[in-house]
Amino acid sequence: MSAGYILVKKSVPLKGVVRVSGAKNAALPILASLIVTSGISVLTNVPDLTDIRSMIQLLEELGAVVTPDFSQGQVIVDTRTICRWKISENLMKQTRASIVVLGPLLARFHAADVAFPGGDAIGARPIDYHLKNFKKMGAKIDQIGNVLSLRAEKLSSQRFILDYPSVGATQNLLMAAVLIPGTSYIVNAAIEPEVMDLVTVLKKMGAHISLEYPASFKIVGVERLTPIRHEIMPDRLEAGGLLIAAAITGGDITLHKAHAQDMELFLMKLEEMGHTITVDDQGAIRLQASLHPQAVSFKTAPYPGIATDLQPLLMIAQVVAQGKSEAIETVFENRFLHVPYLQSMGACIEPFGQKACITGVSDLVAADVVATDIRASCALVLAGLVAQGDTRVFGIDHWKRGYENLDQKLRSLGADIEFKYE
Ligand code: UD1
Repeated sequence: MSAGYILVKKSVPLKGVVRVSGAKNAALPILASLIVTSGISVLTNVPDLTDIRSMIQLLEELGAVVTPDFSQGQVIVDTRTICRWKISENLMKQTRASIVVLGPLLARFHAADVAFPGGDAIGARPIDYHLKNFKKMGAKIDQIGNVLSLRAEKLSSQRFILDYPSVGATQNLLMAAVLIPGTSYIVNAAIEPEVMDLVTVLKKMGAHISLEYPASFKIVGVERLTPIRHEIMPDRLEAGGLLIAAAITGGDITLHKAHAQDMELFLMKLEEMGHTITVDDQGAIRLQASLHPQAVSFKTAPYPGIATDLQPLLMIAQVVAQGKSEAIETVFENRFLHVPYLQSMGACIEPFGQKACITGVSDLVAADVVATDIRASCALVLAGLVAQGDTRVFGIDHWKRGYENLDQKLRSLGADIEFKYE
């Protein structure tokens, strides 16, 4: 963990126009998906984040030649030289999303040796849905200590049924299934926009994938897939953070390159609070804040529900709104780790298991707080924007894993926020 912190001062109303970066949660599986091709692919709108750099390192460890040019948001990946299916434990641990290499490695080599990525602060994050279905596909799985070894003589098309619409398991199974002869189904699949961006990429490669009612992917295996060129979708989670920053400071901002259709329930909640949301046909979202926002209750759920990653952020908006509300977290078991820090800043929140009861207060007070995960880092910075005094947010590695230049973007809108290394 780096030393240093983000210093945030109470903000003026944020005003202006910013562009949303490419989505980390789409770019990571899409980078991994290139393993199923042999050739040169070009990805654009790739955010410069430590998690993305870890995924690049991981592709290089497999033998790919990767040429990133983050000044242009471009990453060129030559997968012709991929010749290994083993990833070192150290690299697997750098980003939990590394687990999505299992599917493409199985597809390409019928083999994968990786370390179990482990849990993190927001939950145990098991991978049983992934492994259960890889077994059903025909893979033999051995786990010795922390190392997982998958081998398959032959992979077979099946109906893969998920206990829960897991984003990672859906992505892994899609990538494993695209080359399997016959027709596979992923039933109770996740249909998050980031999953759909991966589906777009796999289809560009030549895969046959369709979404069937109510939420199943039908995959008809093809013999080979070809390299692609693709622009990564905008990051709806970064967009959510920026909109909340404007809402709580009484601001007026416009986000370019944001997909409003990817976050409709979230935007509806902001409107119910009294904020004005305008969406244009170019995909820009404008938020004009109400000066007397009313608290609203909300619940996280798989897409199209409110993303769990937006829960800590939407909670801040309730903390400083008028009235009482409830935030219910249904996706991860431990995603209220930001709450004690918000309480230390004067927020009136009572957590009961997966539910938090919030009574709005007019002001917060600055404190030293610690981010425990990516989204908590954003929530605490947002809280700092409406707190009297100097808030110091520690745990900035999480911020760097998840947000490309968000501090600069907030500054360009008028926020007083900077990195400090002492
Ligand atoms: C992805 C996102 C993360 C987001 C989450 C839910 C990335 C890199 N991360 O994480 O930001 O918060 O989706 O939208 O895209 N589960 C199991 N067994 C499994 C798999 C999942 O029990 O094998 C459980 C998890 O513990 C969790 C729930 O299912 O409670 C959802 O997890 P999942 O959708 O898989 O999240 P990730 O793909 O890890």
